[in-house]
Amino acid sequence: MEIIILKNAERVAAMGAELVAELLRVSADAVLGLATGGTQLALYRKLVEKYEAGQLSFKDVTTFNLDEYLGVTQDNPQSYRAYMKQELFDHIDINQDCTHLPACAEGQNPVLVGPEYEHAIREAGGIDLQILGIGSNGHIGFNEPSSSLKSRTRVKTLTRQTFEDNSRLFSAAEFQPTLAITMGIATIMDARRILLLATGENKAGAVSQMVEGPVTAMCPASSLQMHERVTVLLDEAAAGKLQNRDYYDWTHLQNESLKDRFGRTHER
Ligand code: PGA
Repeated sequence: MEIIILKNAERVAAMGAELVAELLRVSADAVLGLATGGTQLALYRKLVEKYEAGQLSFKDVTTFNLDEYLGVTQDNPQSYRAYMKQELFDHIDINQDCTHLPACAEGQNPVLVGPEYEHAIREAGGIDLQILGIGSNGHIGFNEPSSSLKSRTRVKTLTRQTFEDNSRLFSAAEFQPTLAITMGIATIMDARRILLLATGENKAGAVSQMVEGPVTAMCPASSLQMHERVTVLLDEAAAGKLQNRDYYDWTHLQNESLKDRFGRTHER
C-alpha cells in the first residue's frame, strides 16, 4: 500500500483531486467509483474547482457509487443520489445518464439490484479508479465488520455504530435507514486502482487496523492489503496510530524525488 500522510484534510482533498485529474487527463472516458460521506466533500469541492478552472472535463466519464440507502427514493434529499448531485454532478459537465448508484426503485426486488449493478460495472469495462472512505469501524462502502471478503453488491444491514455515526445527518422527524445496497468487498477489489481518503482522529484506529493489522473480515478495509494498487491519503490525525509512520514518510520522500526524474511511481 502506498501511504501518504499530509498536513491536514485540505491537503488530502487537494492531492486526491490531483490524482483523479491525472487519470482523466490520460483517460478522458475513465470509469470512476465514487463514495459519499463527510470526508469526500472537500475532494468534490476541489474537483468542481478544477472543472470550473477549465482543467478537467467529466464529459465522457462514467461513475458507479459504492452504495445507496434502501427505502429512500432517488429524489429524497437524504439519498446518496441527492448528495452526489448536490456535491458534484450538478456542478460539472458529466452526462448524468452515465452516473450509477445501486438504488432500488419502489416495487423492485432489492435482491436483484446487486447482480444488475455488477453486470453494469462489467459492461462499462470495470472501474478504473475507486474512491473510498473508511468507517470508524473499518467498513468500506457499507461492508460492515464480518462482511465476506468475497462479497458482491447486495443488501447489507448497517451496524448500530454506523447508524449512530450517520444519525447527525438526519433530523428526529426523518426516517433513517438501517439497510443499504453496497458494492461488495470483491467488487471493490476488482477496481484497477483504489484511492482511500481518511481524515480526523476518529479514523485513526480503523486506519491502523487497515494498514498494519491482519487481513480480517472484522476490518473490511484490511482486505485492501491484498490489492496491488492502493493509495491511502491521510491527514496527521488519521495517521496518529500508525506504528510504521517513519517508513511511510521516508517512502513518500523517495517517491517524490523519483517522480521529479521519471514521472509518478507507485509504492505498493
Ligand atoms: P465519513 O464516512 O466520510 O462520513 O466519515 C466514511 C465512511 O463511512 O466510509
